[in-house]
Amino acid sequence: MATNITFHPGSVDIAERSRLLSQTGATLWFTGLSASGKSTIACALEQHLLHLHKFTYRLDGDNIRFGLNKDLGFDEKSRNENIRRIGEVSKLFADSSCIALTAFISPYRADRQVARDLHEKAGIPFIEVFIDAPLHVVEQRDPKGLYKKARAGEIKDFTGISAPYEAPEKPEIHIKTDEADVTECVRRITEYLTEHKLI
Ligand code: PPS
Repeated sequence: MATNITFHPGSVDIAERSRLLSQTGATLWFTGLSASGKSTIACALEQHLLHLHKFTYRLDGDNIRFGLNKDLGFDEKSRNENIRRIGEVSKLFADSSCIALTAFISPYRADRQVARDLHEKAGIPFIEVFIDAPLHVVEQRDPKGLYKKARAGEIKDFTGISAPYEAPEKPEIHIKTDEADVTECVRRITEYLTEHKLI
């Protein structure tokens, strides 16, 4: 970190901002294997929340790698840095009273914990949403043909095949996408947000 820098707090704290904007910020952190349904559910949830006039914004793994994180690959160090940056960015969105939806594989438990700690230290809700589907199911879906390429050795460090995925141990929300359709997934997450007075 640079030296000779001083944090400059704003004139409005997080509680007052939430009150003035009538919305509490939070991060919903989707994690799961490629093709588990993270992006699909996050998209549908974003649409649903916007139709309820909630300020929400989605950060998606593939999309962010076209811009902010285009310098990163898929080796362990790059993934650590990918998730570190997204932890920081989602915290900023949530600090602005936005409901930030992040859809990243985020395969390492320790990286997700860093993102959680960052939010909790700032008093911002962090909700881990495990989008769970067995490997044989996501491999059968294979919408981008990536599992096929990974099995053929054409992609290295592919999550679930040649790179690890560490499943959450105690996610706030656990959704099995081989059992629930998108509408049901959105309903369950919305129910959680309502019960926790976040919407
Ligand atoms: S990570 O692990 O959180 O840093 O990954 P993420 O930023 O979410 O990017 C995952 C998307 O990148 C594509 N892709 C790969 N995924 C996993 N492993 C390897 N080696 C890989 N190479 C490319 C893939 O489209 C992922 O998107 P999803 O939506 O998860 O299928």
